[in-house]
Amino acid sequence: MTPSPLAELDSQKAALLRSIAALSTLDALRESEPTITGKRSILSSLQKSLGSLEPEARRDAGAQLQEARREVEDALLRRREELAHAQRAESLGADRLDLGDVVVSAVRVPVSMGHPNLVASTQRELEDVFVGMGFTVADGPEVESDWYNFEALNIPPAHPARGLWDTFYVDLGEPETVVLRTHTSPTQIHLMETAVANNSLPIHSVMPGRCHRRDTPDSSHLPTFHQIEGLVVDRGITFADLAGVIETFTKSYFGADIAARLRPGYFPFTEPSAEFEITCTICRGEGCRTCSQTGWLELGGSGMLDPAVFDAVGIDGNEWSGFAFGFGIDRCAQMRYQVGDMRALIENDTRFLRQFS
Ligand code: DAH
Repeated sequence: MTPSPLAELDSQKAALLRSIAALSTLDALRESEPTITGKRSILSSLQKSLGSLEPEARRDAGAQLQEARREVEDALLRRREELAHAQRAESLGADRLDLGDVVVSAVRVPVSMGHPNLVASTQRELEDVFVGMGFTVADGPEVESDWYNFEALNIPPAHPARGLWDTFYVDLGEPETVVLRTHTSPTQIHLMETAVANNSLPIHSVMPGRCHRRDTPDSSHLPTFHQIEGLVVDRGITFADLAGVIETFTKSYFGADIAARLRPGYFPFTEPSAEFEITCTICRGEGCRTCSQTGWLELGGSGMLDPAVFDAVGIDGNEWSGFAFGFGIDRCAQMRYQVGDMRALIENDTRFLRQFS
């Protein structure tokens, strides 16, 4: 009887397992693979020799060989994982930068962090200027009742600002009319009411925030925009205090070569009222297209608090007086950074926005 071709299988398998364990690099493993499990391996030549066996013996030997091959392949797979792991650990160690106490073990792909939008950073800068002048910063609701947005500010029912074409009315099915605020002035009313309730007058506050009007967007108008309101209620406040605050603010925010001027105007909640203008930031007062050749740009409104407003909130106008002002934050950003078209502020074109990081 001819000896089985698998007579030496156990020792041959043990030799293969030993050689696998001895492989020390992935390169060595790749090189040895054909002789361990591939075409040039002992396992493959044993497979071929089974052809000479009787069918039954061939089946048994085939199963035995199959089992041995599985064990060898498993061992090879595990060794490959071990070596890959070791190689990764080694290259991390080699790439490690040691900077004294700081150890950098991997180089991070730079991630773009983003930055505040120009309107947000402008609001911050404006707040900073006013805080430097002794004002506090207050918030107010963006959704207001008709009373806060209009009535308490002495804006009569027939006033054009209340028209369906100017204001977003919110239908809550309530008896009270609710609107998206068209300006930040209603926050004045909230502040004065709170101060009366807490007996905490005087007030020196600015109130920035988002406002909404039914405007078609164009180069200098957005239907959703931002204003900053100012309110001072104290004893003995005069128009000179208002003019001084406007002048100081303008110089601090726009620079020493930009002047402010107050022109007689009309607002229902201030008396007297004044429009607040600054030297055109494009032509520096020479006269250009942006300022319609006047050398001046309108920024907002201002004035002494109207007695009707004091009455609405229950402040005694014989004891207290005050002034208010309000102007556009988006408009300020546009003027200071000479943004030709205001719509660029909300179009999310990062090539534009990145300039203000
Ligand atoms: N709320 C006014 C507007 O949006 C601006 C304004 C004018 C605010 C006069 C004031 C003020 O506080 O006194 O057109």
